[in-house]
Amino acid sequence: MQFNATIIEHFSNPRNAGEIPDAGGVGTVGHPVCGDIVRLYIKIDKKGGEEVISQVKFKTFGCTAAIATSSIATELIKGKTVKEALAIKNEAVAKALGGLPPIKMHCSVLAHDAIQAAVADYKKKSGQGELMNKVQEENRRHEEKELLSRGP
Ligand code: FES
Repeated sequence: MQFNATIIEHFSNPRNAGEIPDAGGVGTVGHPVCGDIVRLYIKIDKKGGEEVISQVKFKTFGCTAAIATSSIATELIKGKTVKEALAIKNEAVAKALGGLPPIKMHCSVLAHDAIQAAVADYKKKSGQGELMNKVQEENRRHEEKELLSRGP
């Protein structure tokens, strides 16, 4: 499997690996075929009326691309508002790594799903669960399309 230098670099030196014991939201997602698992922890601070992701950590049991996409995903959402993080699609995760081999695109879906799941958990815990339903439905449709078009 050929990976570019950015992917190898994030795999070798993952950013924000670990966990946040008092996280505001935790999202755990797994891929049904390859079995890889990503867990993402986020901490939210309120700044100027916005919910900002002040801390993010991840733990991933998975392939090179799963670890690299988890790592870059933490960099993409750190310091972003929750709204901005929710708008990040898996293609943006893959692009930030300089692209993924087609057979590994589903790894970026996993990273994307972990962001969504962590935010959903935060929303649930902070009494905003309803707001997530629409976003999750939209994402499910997007992911189904992605998963169907790419194998593990
Ligand atoms: S997440 Fe399945 S092979 Fe990488």
